[in-house]
Amino acid sequence: MAKRTLNVALIGYQFMGKAHSNAYRQVARFFPALECQPVLKVLCGRHEERVRAAAEKYGFEEYATDWQQVVARDDIDIVDVSTPGNLHAPISIEAAKHGKIVLCEKPLANNLLEAREMVQAVEQNGVKHGVFFNYRKAPAVSYAKQLIAEGVIGQIYHFRGTYLQDWIVDPNFPLVWRLRKEVSGSGVHGDLNAHIIDLARWLVGEISEVCGMMHTFIKQRPLLAESDDRLGGQASTQMGEVTVDDAAVFLARFENGAIGTFEATRFALGRKNYNRFEINGSKGSIVFNLERMNELELYLETDPEGTRGFRTIQVTEGVHPYVSAWWPPGHIIGYEHTFTHLVRDALEAISKDEQPSPNFHDGLKCQAVLEAVEVSANERRWVEVPKS
Ligand SMILES: NC(=O)c1ccc[n+]([C@@H]2O[C@H](COP(=O)([O-])OP(=O)(O)OC[C@H]3O[C@@H](n4cnc5c(N)ncnc54)[C@H](O)[C@@H]3O)[C@@H](O)[C@H]2O)c1
Repeated sequence: MAKRTLNVALIGYQFMGKAHSNAYRQVARFFPALECQPVLKVLCGRHEERVRAAAEKYGFEEYATDWQQVVARDDIDIVDVSTPGNLHAPISIEAAKHGKIVLCEKPLANNLLEAREMVQAVEQNGVKHGVFFNYRKAPAVSYAKQLIAEGVIGQIYHFRGTYLQDWIVDPNFPLVWRLRKEVSGSGVHGDLNAHIIDLARWLVGEISEVCGMMHTFIKQRPLLAESDDRLGGQASTQMGEVTVDDAAVFLARFENGAIGTFEATRFALGRKNYNRFEINGSKGSIVFNLERMNELELYLETDPEGTRGFRTIQVTEGVHPYVSAWWPPGHIIGYEHTFTHLVRDALEAISKDEQPSPNFHDGLKCQAVLEAVEVSANERRWVEVPKS
């Protein structure tokens, strides 16, 4: 039977544009049982020359510079939103109005109100929707989910999430879009806490109450000499205000009685992409660290006393989630595979006429936690997470 093809319009061609293009290109080759196959139709960005070069490099049929025209095209099935946060809501809502499947980067929106409007738009227009909380799709994380669901570590007491980077410690690092609230919504909070909040919700359960602190260490930075299109770029001698947080930490209570600590920073020298969680339950503990993403640490209290201790599982066996599609045991996979797995799952859901997971509802719930932490930090008190 001929496969159903889905034409993809990808808005944004840099970091995530590159990661998502790779996922759409690889997915059908490694997961041939999929009934839907993505087609790299059009890549969209603001700068004609750069987007043309990127389209050629990533293998798109066409390029474009006006996302509004792109999302209105009859021949587009999936709109992939890989832009900074200020465009997530406008592009997703417009795409939903045109009946497109919308797959959006995280955080879903720049604030809770926008996130609600996005959910309303996809629901009113009856379209499928997904959010790139890609770390769920690391085989070791999916396996942790399976172990927790099977009760292997028992009742969960603690979630301890840290997401540490160090790329803006230099005070001369320029004021890129990630440091400007009007573009990014928040700083490291929406960027990295969003990921660990999503993992915590998925692995442990809903968060009911938070108490947070957000801090900006360097309040002014050199303005960019040219466009802010890139992560880096040339710094000018003029200074501008940093309007977002550099570090964001919070305590959390889960609905099921577990408690959690969350820490995200861009000021942890030596930590590059240190996305680590530890979960302690009544029967054992589980530890994951993205920088060693093929491994999962597991401690079981039921092990014989003499040899009890954390074991390191190489999550590369055929029995582990996603792994059989790739290489023999021990032949490790990487960061980019998390996106391929997310796209695989989204396409499978779409072919079954189901909603992808994670989707805009997860994005909204995560946004509600993010916003409660901001309120808590501003007002210096515990805050209940609004029911989204
Ligand atoms: N899931 C993850 O692990 C992960 C990792 C990094 C970034 N992100 C998220 O992905 C999104 C994009 O981040 P990035 O790192 O790719 O940023 P980036 O700066 O590398 O790329 C942003 C892209 O958006 C495009 N863009 C901006 N304004 C546009 C417009 N008006 N029309 C068309 N294109 C426009 C730029 O041209 C650029 O190609 C953000 O929401 C970010 O939080 C997610």
